[in-house]
Amino acid sequence: MSGFTIRRAVDEDIEEIFRMCMELADLSDDGDSVKTTPENSASQPLIGYALYVYTFSTWDGRSAFLNDIYVTPDHRGKGIGTDLLRTVAQDVLDNGCVLMEWCVLNWNSNAIEFYKSKGAFDLTEAEHVHIYKMPKSSLEKLAK
Ligand SMILES: CC(C)(COP(=O)(O)OP(=O)(O)OC[C@H]1O[C@@H](n2cnc3c(N)ncnc32)[C@H](O)[C@@H]1OP(=O)(O)O)[C@@H](O)C(=O)NCCC(=O)NCCS
Repeated sequence: MSGFTIRRAVDEDIEEIFRMCMELADLSDDGDSVKTTPENSASQPLIGYALYVYTFSTWDGRSAFLNDIYVTPDHRGKGIGTDLLRTVAQDVLDNGCVLMEWCVLNWNSNAIEFYKSKGAFDLTEAEHVHIYKMPKSSLEKLAK
């Protein structure tokens, strides 16, 4: 697939990325739960994004966590998500990571098939791992 460019985000992209974050949250019926806000104005229309952070596994070493991957509906099924994920894979490898993890909702069969076709596997299914979240209120209560 040609006609699009994968590049690192810059500050000016924030509003466009935020728009896609809201679209992704709406897919989960969770748009009202987005607490972040854009702070800058947009440069040009973007058609997808991947957001990932570096983390560390005591068993495996340097790792990455993929927060979001999103391609706007009109541009799906054209290989853009594959190119995006491939670029992320190269970048995390270049930065010394030995694995990347992420979460996906169990009804999102399109995304699940997409991930499996790239070589990822379901950690809950394979190792019975569940993701836990501690909200700020619980953190504050615990920290006192
Ligand atoms: C998951 C997602 C990022 C994939 O991006 P994409 O650009 O559609 O991915 P690709 O075109 O590279 O590949 C999609 C696969 O589905 C197939 N496909 C065909 N038509 C499709 C369509 N209309 N939409 C999605 N996938 C389609 C492709 O053939 C391809 O199969 P393959 O990997 O066996 O070749 C994208 O569908 C998306 O943004 N979904 C909504 C957000 C989401 O669910 N994100 C993940 C949250 S965990």
